[in-house]
Amino acid sequence: MLRSTLLAAARSTGARKLVERTPLTRPVVDRFIAGDDVDAAIRATGALVADGRFATLDHLGEDTLGATQADATVAAYSDLLSRLDDAGYAGRAEVSVKLSAVGRSLPVDGEKIALENARRICAAADAVGTTVTLDMEDHTTTDSTLDVLRELRVDFPWVGAVLQAYLKRTEQDCRDLAHAGSRVRLCKGAYQEPASVAYQDKTDVDRSYVRCLKVLMAGEGYPMVASHDPRLIAIAADLAGRRALDSYEFQMLYGIRPEEQKRIAAAGNTMRVYLPYGDEWYGYFMRRLAERPANVAFFLRSLVTT
Ligand code: FDA
Repeated sequence: MLRSTLLAAARSTGARKLVERTPLTRPVVDRFIAGDDVDAAIRATGALVADGRFATLDHLGEDTLGATQADATVAAYSDLLSRLDDAGYAGRAEVSVKLSAVGRSLPVDGEKIALENARRICAAADAVGTTVTLDMEDHTTTDSTLDVLRELRVDFPWVGAVLQAYLKRTEQDCRDLAHAGSRVRLCKGAYQEPASVAYQDKTDVDRSYVRCLKVLMAGEGYPMVASHDPRLIAIAADLAGRRALDSYEFQMLYGIRPEEQKRIAAAGNTMRVYLPYGDEWYGYFMRRLAERPANVAFFLRSLVTT
């Protein structure tokens, strides 16, 4: 119930104004967002790299409604990629892109514009020797994201994508994408989805995650295990151990279980942290609140006690 309310609020302009205008929100936001600008993002990447972690950076934004804003997002990614290269982090940091941030929701030719913009970001990543992973948004966009992935991979075969275990279709998508050279980031899924397309029960989502993991780990691609769930992380490590697979990695979100991130990295695994930055943090922040009731309590407590 709380999760649905928060996810509905994530799409509401009224709630957005309310949350964004409350100055006391900021300390809670700072737990999940690395900062407002590229300087903060580079600093946070440096801190991760210093203790052996990798990064994937997300220039926040998901409601791009004009071509100018989409162009500005592409420019921000190009700047970010050259700053990562200048700082010597391009070997340890890639970028994550939401197609809605680069124009997919534009009323005319949205998907075509998003494809071309994503292509420009891929070219900038290629120039500094790193990779791009396409984030996955709500289920109405899954086919479109996978179509764009296929197009991008013609010129940039290293482009990866996220798949969401809560969708009933995802096990088959994993089979389709478990081929050589393919990079799949498997997560549980963070949007409000109907029962017609998505498992609603946490146990069913977890079971689907394990089935998808098995497909990816048995395939020829590069699985990216994106979860903070200790049980799923242990299952992934076990599956990889049984196949003597060393071509996979673990991933977590910035600010969530950081000590566990360091422990996994120190044990010799690749641990990549999804690092969001920028001032368009509202949707991302609300999804993080929705994932864990304790975050809401923390947020509300900070409002009344600060
Ligand atoms: P689960 O939610 O069951 O949490 C397991 C444990 O992790 C919790 O008990 C708690 O200890 C900790 N935890 C989880 N979330 C927390 C939070 N917000 N605050 C504090 N502790 C928390 N989704 C999507 O739909 N599209 C996408 O493109 C992506 N991309 C993505 C990239 C990466 C690298 C990660 C790690 C995750 C995503 N996600 C995503 C989000 C994902 O779908 C999911 O919502 C969260 O990862 C939470 O699910 P867990 O697997 O961690 O399990």
